[in-house]
Amino acid sequence: MTELTITPLTLHIGAQIDGVDVTQPLDENTINLIRAALLKWKVIFFRNQNLDHPQHIRFARYFGAPTPGHVIFGSDETYPEIYSVAKHRTANARRAPVIHSWTNWHTDITAAINPPFASILRGVVVPPYGGDTHWTNAAKAYQSLSPALRNFLDTLRCVHQYAPSVGPATENTADQYEKQVGKTAFISEHPLVTIHPETGERLLYISPDFVDCIVGLSPTESRAMLEMLWRHLVRNEFTVRFKWEQGSIAFWDNRATAHLAPADIFDSDFDRQFYRITLQGEVPVGVDGKPSTAISGQPIEPIT
Ligand code: SIN
Repeated sequence: MTELTITPLTLHIGAQIDGVDVTQPLDENTINLIRAALLKWKVIFFRNQNLDHPQHIRFARYFGAPTPGHVIFGSDETYPEIYSVAKHRTANARRAPVIHSWTNWHTDITAAINPPFASILRGVVVPPYGGDTHWTNAAKAYQSLSPALRNFLDTLRCVHQYAPSVGPATENTADQYEKQVGKTAFISEHPLVTIHPETGERLLYISPDFVDCIVGLSPTESRAMLEMLWRHLVRNEFTVRFKWEQGSIAFWDNRATAHLAPADIFDSDFDRQFYRITLQGEVPVGVDGKPSTAISGQPIEPIT
């Protein structure tokens, strides 16, 4: 029987799991304990686990069905489940200059109608210092708002889009984006407050990188409300900061968190090479029971 140790890293989010070798096959009890820790702590960390790609895929498959590595930026040629999070990967081209406390915070692929339910990232080439990643707890952020504001937010929906910089999100925007960029535009409308399908928690679902606007509010109202909520979402006390070592793994519940990839790695010559697998998610549902709707782009299909 595996003796897992679960050590919380902050009050509200993040725990390190020791006492298990995830490079090896896992028994059902261990899988259940890891899954319960994920639901409770939102992001869990393992250290000294030097997985190769097949071991990473086997570990991921204990918890769900892997999606293609990245629906926009592609996948490893041999292992389509794997996305290379290289220091100079293409995705960095769309990174905004860091201006606000929420700049570059995001929840993975929320522009899709069924964003991944979880992501599993492993560090292979890790800078000796710098390059830490942050996560925030979207349930705690929601609970910390006033009841009056929560009641209002429960009724709203947001447009999430994969950064097409060609104007407000409409089907026309998607056409323009596809013509200009030559790729499918992913644009979806999600409830601003979603219900976690396993824990029942209410979640502030406002991925700062991908939310374009709040439906039904004027542009000025939408921007002011989003800026207030984004600032709130990334308050220090809801977050955990993880210092990576070679062989570290971060496994996060993408439904209940947002995260921030480090910007400081570009201030040094240190290399950083990580690999990520995302697991297929469901269509989010709001407090009123209504599911998200797709404006552009197909649901993400798993790799069987
Ligand atoms: C990610 O956003 O999935 C990558 C995070 C990181 O590079 O630390």
